[in-house]
Amino acid sequence: MVKKILVVHASRKGSTEEIARAVAKELEATGVGVEVAEMQTVSVPEDVQAVVIGAPVYAGHIVPAVAAFVAKNRPRLEKIPVAAFAVGIAPVMPQAGPVEKLREELRKALSPLQPVTVTMFAGKLDPQKLSFVERTMTKMLKVPTGDFRDWEAIRAWAKGLPPGFRG
Ligand SMILES: Cc1cc2nc3c(=O)[nH]c(=O)nc-3n(C[C@H](O)[C@H](O)[C@H](O)COP(=O)(O)O)c2cc1C
Repeated sequence: MVKKILVVHASRKGSTEEIARAVAKELEATGVGVEVAEMQTVSVPEDVQAVVIGAPVYAGHIVPAVAAFVAKNRPRLEKIPVAAFAVGIAPVMPQAGPVEKLREELRKALSPLQPVTVTMFAGKLDPQKLSFVERTMTKMLKVPTGDFRDWEAIRAWAKGLPPGFRG
């Protein structure tokens, strides 16, 4: 039977979802079956053998969907390996909050799960996708706009996940 991996995300403007899909593609290349889903709506199926969780940072915090996903699926998640990544502007804008603090916050949101790894990737800020308030806020805070995703680093992270995530 082919191993099945679930990659969930809580993307609001699409960039975390695209990272989730890139991670899924890397894992798929090793011979596992991968499903990508929104963590707000999915329930972890019984036959899934590992889960990757991807969540963006908004207004200084990991989106609350992570803690809700863990609470809802805890009995299943406690039995399988979990890896997680945060996405935000902090890696390219230190004033947005120390990356180490955000990684720690992601660990807390996952608790009591013990993830095999937690990382943070630089995301994307597309002014066209921002509301008027968001645009004003990001301008005021001088948040850099653009696509800062490092696909090389994202693929390398996915490739480096433990054997439980590979075929
Ligand atoms: C209103 C707003 C607030 C944000 N706040 C933060 C923040 O506090 N820290 C951070 O690192 N990134 C912050 N970001 C950047 C997002 O995390 C980044 O754009 C990410 O790629 C968004 O993911 P998504 O496209 O999947 O929603 C913010 C972006 C917006 C639009």
